[in-house]
Amino acid sequence: MKNNDVILVTGGAGFIGSNFIKFVLKKHKDLHVVNLDSLTYSGNKENLKDIAGDTRYTFVKGDVSNGAVIEKVFKKYKPTYVINFAAETHVDRSIHVGAKQFIDTNIVGVFNILEAIKKYREVYDFKKYVQVSTDEVFGSLPLDSKKAFTETTAFSPNVPYSATKAGGDMLCNAYFTTWQLPVVVTHCSNNYGPFQYPEKLIPFFILRMLENKTLPLYGDGKNVRDWIYVVDHCSALDLCLFKGKSGEVYNIGADNEINNLDIAEKIAKYFKKDKTIFEFVSDRPGHDRRYAVDSSKIKRELGWKPVYSFEKAFAETIKWYLDHPKWVDGVRKKTGVFNPHIDLWRKHVLKK
Ligand SMILES: NC(=O)c1ccc[n+]([C@@H]2O[C@H](COP(=O)([O-])OP(=O)(O)OC[C@H]3O[C@@H](n4cnc5c(N)ncnc54)[C@H](O)[C@@H]3O)[C@@H](O)[C@H]2O)c1
Repeated sequence: MKNNDVILVTGGAGFIGSNFIKFVLKKHKDLHVVNLDSLTYSGNKENLKDIAGDTRYTFVKGDVSNGAVIEKVFKKYKPTYVINFAAETHVDRSIHVGAKQFIDTNIVGVFNILEAIKKYREVYDFKKYVQVSTDEVFGSLPLDSKKAFTETTAFSPNVPYSATKAGGDMLCNAYFTTWQLPVVVTHCSNNYGPFQYPEKLIPFFILRMLENKTLPLYGDGKNVRDWIYVVDHCSALDLCLFKGKSGEVYNIGADNEINNLDIAEKIAKYFKKDKTIFEFVSDRPGHDRRYAVDSSKIKRELGWKPVYSFEKAFAETIKWYLDHPKWVDGVRKKTGVFNPHIDLWRKHVLKK
């Protein structure tokens, strides 16, 4: 990295993107971050209010699915690095609301970014694009196995969200192979931490507790996810952006497999509630049973390791939501309900 390198962060007003922007501005003093975000329901400028006055930070409102918008940003800011967080990210929404927006953002958006890089690397010295993706592209693992996804595991997405993420990732691979674009793709497991939009499991449950509501669990509640603290994900992405090898794929996970029921129990315990608050609802269609990520490659090749202990970071995450009622109220006012999809699911499928 050289002085005044410009990093274009797309989708930087969301959960991971906003944590990442704060992480890189703290770690690297000589760079400028341009955050391009269309501020969908999950994008929130409040997530970045601590750094809004930083002269090294610029916010641009715009949609990655519009090629002209990306083109304009490249022309004006000449980013040397791009990292893409812009996405439709909620599996339930991809099922109950529809896949169209997922295709526009998660596939067409990536295409637009790749096209801009292809064009502008002829104009100036472009260095790296990181496509932030998910372990969900690999599909589902059986509960009774010790297998974990590696970088060579075949894609097998089961829901529109993961299918569109896989589409974006495959375009990255194609642009590297065909035109040698300096692209890195990452596949990370489930994140938790501050500023996560409360339709996702952990903040959703925390806020249900605050409202004295039940904790709804799909199926038997035994679906397993490999949980990672968001700042550990950010440190891995920082390495991928500045040290990752073009054309490579890196899996990111914290070896921390926990099922949804155990997450619910931990949250209930924190609030001194018992199991009577659990509510088992019909399973989600296409619900992957288990994810597990083998991150030995990024550890070996880029020297990354997660540093946050789950117990501590999890308790701090709960406390963060309790300590930020204004943020919670802001989100509540903006969207009304926290998980409209569970409600839709109840109404249309369970008929209750
Ligand atoms: N949350 C996780 O556990 C997790 C795990 C692995 C990978 N990921 C990936 O990380 C990325 C970020 O996830 P997140 O949890 O922060 O999501 P998020 O929903 O909190 O944030 C997404 C951001 O993208 C913006 N956005 C959406 N559509 C846009 C568009 N068309 N143009 C510009 N901006 C747009 C939103 O306004 C929002 O700020 C996603 O690509 C997701 O697939 C997430």
